[in-house]
Amino acid sequence: MHLTHPTDPSTPQHLRRVVVTGAAGFIGSHLSRALLEAGTTVIGVDRRDPQRDPLATANLTELTTFPNFVPLTADVMTCPLDPVLLDADAVFHLAALPGVRPSWGPKFDAYVAANIQSVQRIMIVASRLRIQRVVLASSSSVYGATDGSPSRETDRPGPLSPYAVTKLAAEQLCLAHAARLDAATSVVALRYFTVFGPRQRPDMLIHRVLSAALGQTPLQLYGNGLQQRDFTYVDDVVHATIAAALTPTANTVINIGAGCSTSVSDVLDIAYRLTGRPVPVVQAGARAGDVPATLADITRARDLLGWKPEVSLTDGMEQQLRYLEESV
Ligand code: NAD
Ligand code: UGA
Repeated sequence: MHLTHPTDPSTPQHLRRVVVTGAAGFIGSHLSRALLEAGTTVIGVDRRDPQRDPLATANLTELTTFPNFVPLTADVMTCPLDPVLLDADAVFHLAALPGVRPSWGPKFDAYVAANIQSVQRIMIVASRLRIQRVVLASSSSVYGATDGSPSRETDRPGPLSPYAVTKLAAEQLCLAHAARLDAATSVVALRYFTVFGPRQRPDMLIHRVLSAALGQTPLQLYGNGLQQRDFTYVDDVVHATIAAALTPTANTVINIGAGCSTSVSDVLDIAYRLTGRPVPVVQAGARAGDVPATLADITRARDLLGWKPEVSLTDGMEQQLRYLEESV
């Protein structure tokens, strides 16, 4: 992969040294690996301590074999950020509380802190240090309920969960910083659509479906299974995220989705075909904030990032299945 862009002085020309927040998480660990493989020095910040948290250990294991990986166990809300961000060509801000359904309830303050206040801290320091680019992980959830047709970035957002509200606020906050007359830091906010693949978070559907097929806890099916998602493979998301650091057209939001939608019950069928075993299911009620359908219009990603998704749902689920089989 080429981590350079040939033109434009306001855009990083080369990713020599970057900061990835949320590096011990699902997407952050894949992003870090791709950058490390390309020779970039990665300062990987995460508050989860691999000495104590088995998920962080699993996610970070392959990264720690790279000499250009600098892991940092720290909370971006409290640690001194200047020394972390100093001399970075770009910051990939992925650290957040990511769950849609658990954002109702007592953890609201934690969502606001992790998903909005952290952005304010990152943008203040990035601007002061004249870091050229911040890439923010935003979310398809900002669109809310749709009629099932593709969502465009120009559509009016209608977030339906506290989580989705925080992600919309986060992207608007970044863009407000970038719109200042004295701004030195440009921003690209990527609206990821339901990401899957090896190391997917254990609270997410495909992880739970495949684990259930492999004999672990039965899947709790929220609602009737007709809800649809634009499931997007993690390697595709990583390629788009790196391209977003190098594109000359910044200060914008961009959808990152596969561009096709699949129902939860079709995911169960694919899992059956891949494993040869029916997925044990327990019916459960529909969850507040869970939108009926997501589907990305990916014209802007194609035009601005030269990006297109490569991995189908079935192929990606097969990769995720192999990973789960190897990790039990
Ligand atoms: P994840 O939970 O696996 O990773 C997030 C990481 O951020 C965790 O390791 C967590 O410890 C870390 N973190 C949270 N708050 C922190 C803080 N204050 N300081 C330091 N570290 C902190 O989640 P993920 O699925 O990899 O999601 C990554 C990003 O992508 C999030 O911003 C999420 O909102 C966004 N996103 C994810 C999806 C998806 O389908 N997974 C879709 C849309 C958007
Ligand atoms: C996912 C991520 O978890 C969010 O972090 C992200 O912001 C969002 O995508 C996004 O696209 O922006 P979600 O679409 O809810 O959220 O992803 P899953 O957890 O994989 O759920 C997909 C569907 O399966 C939902 O309709 C959910 O209700 C259903 N589901 C999930 C179940 O029926 N049972 C489960 O145990 C888990």
